[in-house]
Amino acid sequence: MDAEFWKQRWENGETGFHLDEVNPFLPRFWPQLHVHNKSQVFVPLCGKSLDLYWLREQGHEVRGVELSPLALQQFFSEQGLKPEIHRAGAFEIWETEGIRLFCGDFFELTPELLGQPSVVYDRASMIALPPAMRPDYARHLQSLAPASAPRLLVTLDYEQVQMDGPPFAVSEAEVQALYGDSFRIEKIFSEDILAENERFRQRGLTRLEESVYLFHPAG
Ligand SMILES: C[S@@+](CC[C@H](N)C(=O)[O-])C[C@H]1O[C@@H](n2cnc3c(N)ncnc32)[C@H](O)[C@@H]1O
Repeated sequence: MDAEFWKQRWENGETGFHLDEVNPFLPRFWPQLHVHNKSQVFVPLCGKSLDLYWLREQGHEVRGVELSPLALQQFFSEQGLKPEIHRAGAFEIWETEGIRLFCGDFFELTPELLGQPSVVYDRASMIALPPAMRPDYARHLQSLAPASAPRLLVTLDYEQVQMDGPPFAVSEAEVQALYGDSFRIEKIFSEDILAENERFRQRGLTRLEESVYLFHPAG
């Protein structure tokens, strides 16, 4: 899954992952993270998610990274926000009060550019990446967010042999393998959502499990 693949998907309007509402899991489970308002929240692979706006509304300083300039353009115009845009290294930074989005490759983002997030919200990022890229993703995320920063992770799981990703299947075992050394991981929600996702049933899936994990900093 290279940068061109995702940019092309945005150009073609193939963004079935985007929700026209705030992800219901976010307001439902956010209080369980016990973060102060004015926390810096990092949203990797953020797309044009309305969750960014919701997080800002809670008083947080929101930071995101996204490959597609079109996604960011649509985010700001659809929210009626006027961004200031400037360059910093490999990134174009689009920002308005409370929201700073880095346009470029997550894997090139550095702690110097990002600052220090105190919480990470990851919805549909791991499932955007093929299995071979996910250990690098997890490692790079560890380098960007301190181990003291709790996380909320929303993923999908299904039998990978039944369909090619994206979205890719991410199992609980993989979540544990990638992050279990650094966090105590609690699966706080899980549901088979295949019945509401006819397009995936048509692609051959017999199960589509959406799960929400809370990562508690170890120790
Ligand atoms: C499945 S979408 C999820 C978007 C968002 N988290 C949401 O909930 O709507 C994955 C997003 O990651 C972006 N993306 C993929 N690889 C990336 C990378 N290496 N760096 C930054 N963004 C990336 C894609 O352009 C796409 O918008």
